[in-house]
Amino acid sequence: MSDTNTAWTPHSWQSKTVMQQPVYADEAELARVVGELSSLPPLVTSWEVESLKNQLAACSKGQAFLLQGGDCAETFESCRPDAITSLLKIMLQMSLVLTHGTRRKVVRIGRVAGQYAKPRSADEEKQGDEVLPTYRGDLINRSPFTKEDRTPDPKLLLRGYERAALTLNFIRGLIDGGFADIHHPEYWDLDFVDQSPMSAEYKRLVDGIKDSLEFMENVLDTPEESMKRVEFFTSHEGLALRYEQAQTRTVPRRDGYYNLATHFPWIGMRTAQIDGAHIEYFRGIRNPIGLKVGPTMDPEWLTHLIDILHPDDEPGRLTLITRLGASKVRDLLPDFIDTVAATGRTVNWVVDPMHGNTESTATGIKTRQFDNILGEVQASFDVHSTRSSVLGGIHVEITGDDVTECLGGARGLSEADLERAYLSKVDPRLNYEQSMELAMLVAHELRKER
Ligand code: PEP
Ligand code: CO
Repeated sequence: MSDTNTAWTPHSWQSKTVMQQPVYADEAELARVVGELSSLPPLVTSWEVESLKNQLAACSKGQAFLLQGGDCAETFESCRPDAITSLLKIMLQMSLVLTHGTRRKVVRIGRVAGQYAKPRSADEEKQGDEVLPTYRGDLINRSPFTKEDRTPDPKLLLRGYERAALTLNFIRGLIDGGFADIHHPEYWDLDFVDQSPMSAEYKRLVDGIKDSLEFMENVLDTPEESMKRVEFFTSHEGLALRYEQAQTRTVPRRDGYYNLATHFPWIGMRTAQIDGAHIEYFRGIRNPIGLKVGPTMDPEWLTHLIDILHPDDEPGRLTLITRLGASKVRDLLPDFIDTVAATGRTVNWVVDPMHGNTESTATGIKTRQFDNILGEVQASFDVHSTRSSVLGGIHVEITGDDVTECLGGARGLSEADLERAYLSKVDPRLNYEQSMELAMLVAHELRKER
């Protein structure tokens, strides 16, 4: 078991076994970059981080609902205005559906502004006779299969920080400027959705909301200012620990250390070893954190992790993101819920219906069946409700773009369609229609709980 008695520092993880890290050739250059990153301003503030923690506490009690979504991996190239606005648009539309259906506040967290590093199943990749380091995301190295591109480059940590800052700056500007104003849902329209089978239902809903808003504002004789803005938080897998460490710091008038590179870092499935460096790092930060729970985790392991990561039962601190797979969730989730109940601590339960449902087509394309995604969400609602437990949110890989990466959905995408608009270099994402259909299912389930 992890020795949690020894003093924690932002770099105490370095004394533990660390998984999924690149090997940098030039340690001095790495140290210089980490030093520079440590001196640059934070991307987020401790006020925002604490506010999110409170909102996640509300999710864990069923008073709010978390929508966490975005790409599997951001790339430096995807730091473009159209890609950023289309993520915002789809998340605003999904959250409108969710709020309308549930009368609950929706907490929005993007997998954005820092989701640049990916865990990999192998350290090396072989093509022909050549063996090179595996591509670990734009924060670490570059994807073309050449020695130069694949060599981990410390400067990319700085480039990643800068891209994250550019992304966040644009998101903050849009939101402050009125992009998320509910009086103008037309700002969130995506070019192609008029032909979408989901669009008519969504339009009806938006018209209904506009009517109610107009009615309320006429009665109150004042525009509803609070409806003009939303909060939007960021998250990424806290994988590249040098990057996380460099942005981990104390702030005036609060105790402890905050990771100020993101509001909500999460621990991936491949780095959740009890004695490992990632758990050591995460135990010491004050942020709300996520922990992925997959089918290979067992109750004893989870209990240890909860003891290490969530010793004080602080409201909103720990979100468990289950990603068990549609076929396993009914078997495995009840035990996990009972395990957590036995610890006496409260967590925020969230379902990630993506990562347990990845498969390959006969021609080797990575995909996911929409029915399995819906199935895992549905089963998670069912299991939580039979256990009097609360499902507090969903964690999804989505895009506002018109891609064809997952099979099924309202338009019944088939394997032949995958070739048409498959853009993801990593995991397949739900497209606009599939995302909206999922939001409608979730709204329907939550309405039952009302
Ligand atoms: C991810 O969220 O992109 C991911 C790799 O998930 P997991 O750690 O659950 O496999
Ligand atoms: Co993924």
